[in-house]
Amino acid sequence: MSTQFDVVVIGAGPGGYIAAIRAAQLGLSVACIDAWQNGKGGPAPGGTCTNVGCIPSKALLQSSEHYDQVNHHFAEHGIEVKGVSLNLEQLLGRKNNVVKQNNDGILYLFKKNKITFFHGKGAFTGKVDGGWAINVSGTATADIVGKHVVIATGSSARELPGLPFDEQQVLSNDGALNIAAVPKKLGVIGAGVIGLEMGSVWRRLGAEVTVLEAMPEFLAAVDQQVAKEAFKIFTKQGLAIQTGIKLGEIKAGAKSITVPYTDAAGTEQKLVVDKLIVSIGRVPYTGGLQAEAVGLQLDERGFVVVDGDCKTNLPNIWAVGDVVRGPMLAHKAEEEGVAVAERIGGQHGHVNFNTIPWVIYTSPEISWVGQTEQQLKASGRAYKAGSFPFLANGRARALGDTTGFVKILADAATDEVLGVHIIGPMASELIAEAVTIMEFKGAAEDIARICHAHPTLSESMKEAALAVDKRTLNF
Ligand code: FAD
Ligand code: NAI
Repeated sequence: MSTQFDVVVIGAGPGGYIAAIRAAQLGLSVACIDAWQNGKGGPAPGGTCTNVGCIPSKALLQSSEHYDQVNHHFAEHGIEVKGVSLNLEQLLGRKNNVVKQNNDGILYLFKKNKITFFHGKGAFTGKVDGGWAINVSGTATADIVGKHVVIATGSSARELPGLPFDEQQVLSNDGALNIAAVPKKLGVIGAGVIGLEMGSVWRRLGAEVTVLEAMPEFLAAVDQQVAKEAFKIFTKQGLAIQTGIKLGEIKAGAKSITVPYTDAAGTEQKLVVDKLIVSIGRVPYTGGLQAEAVGLQLDERGFVVVDGDCKTNLPNIWAVGDVVRGPMLAHKAEEEGVAVAERIGGQHGHVNFNTIPWVIYTSPEISWVGQTEQQLKASGRAYKAGSFPFLANGRARALGDTTGFVKILADAATDEVLGVHIIGPMASELIAEAVTIMEFKGAAEDIARICHAHPTLSESMKEAALAVDKRTLNF
């Protein structure tokens, strides 16, 4: 007889493992199945985020930023360091350790919350009495039944047609995190989040990086004032970014890759690089799930079709995270995981898609929540804007990092905050205040009236809120 669970979660990325923990907290019996293997074939829960995404990329961004600081910025603090050298093996090894700590942390959380973990692939086999039958194959083999099933199988990197990833020369995010020697010339296709973050890592470590982007606008989804500032700064740092290009047929040779393209002016160009990162977006992953065995509906792009509550077309089957519509972000996946577990547990889980923050972990960082100025203009909503440069912030001066600004967009009549856009130091941390205010439907004046500690970067948020009412104190 198959073991029955109240909830079976397929996938232990941020969507899946968080759904499993929340369901267990609500007193439900929970199993979580995940196929990811570490280098030794053992379990490595945490999904893309932990293994080849958020966590390792941020570890490399931190290490490479230290290297950049010691080489280029310590001297202005009066710290003279001679004989700096890069131990890339150690740098990559540290990143692998950070990943392992996170894998182990999730295994511990499964134990702590009495979640049955299966290391293997989960596939639907049909509908039975009491729920949905699922076969587990891999390190663990089992036939189990879930009264409810949460699909959290994530996404994988999109390939360019005719150019499969070999992770040696043509790299997905996975290979981009594991280059064994700093390439002399690195090409990046796609100036999106991965292209800019990974391009920054390898540029700081010494590679000559060229980023080719098809869209005419740089960071088209980002507030264009921020995008323009970012373009200026990244270009000055040495990232060669070309927008509005059209790729020709890429040829991977034994030692180099040739990327022919037409530039924005219509001129034929040729880029020859040692390695090429292809970061042109990600596609939902449902391979091995046997969706067809139960009639699970996918859309034409392969996403599992869900309603606003993450319900699929099948009763008691839910789906969350990258495998469904919406931004492909770890915290969005987590929010959906919690909400679904709460709905299964009889509560009223809720995700507010209007207040999901975005962060690009370049230097300076970029973060935003809510609507951009171009979106507000397009929708015809009357708004007021206020911004404050980090140049006028005492803490930023003390840090030696005065690039960028905070910009707040508020409704012209009610002063409700509609969007906050930051480029500058610790933008990833500063955005949390904006999310909180927007979640409470607060006004710019609310931020302006809150006491912010001095000297902090967060005072720039207060000053930008004051600027909405044209009364900054320090600028
Ligand atoms: P995933 O994390 O992809 O997890 C899915 C899991 O399901 C995997 O472990 C997979 O092996 C498993 N699985 C799939 N099919 C089966 C099956 N049939 N049986 C068993 N297991 C299965 N987001 C951020 O918010 N911040 C960041 O800084 C950030 N950085 C990123 C950097 C990079 C380089 C990349 C690639 C992504 C980054 N992301 C970031 C995006 C983030 O990683 C994803 O949005 C997030 O991982 C999605 O979570 P998920 O649970 O939906 O899926
Ligand atoms: P992306 O969607 O951010 O950017 C892809 C870029 O490639 C776009 O600008 C697109 O116009 C361009 N492009 C597409 N086809 C092209 C072509 N043929 N030639 C040239 N350019 C082309 O996707 P990316 O960077 O692959 O990242 C995938 C997702 O992973 C992100 O959208 C995000 O959801 C998530 N992620 C989040 C991070 C974060 O939160 N800090 C970090 C990294 C990834």
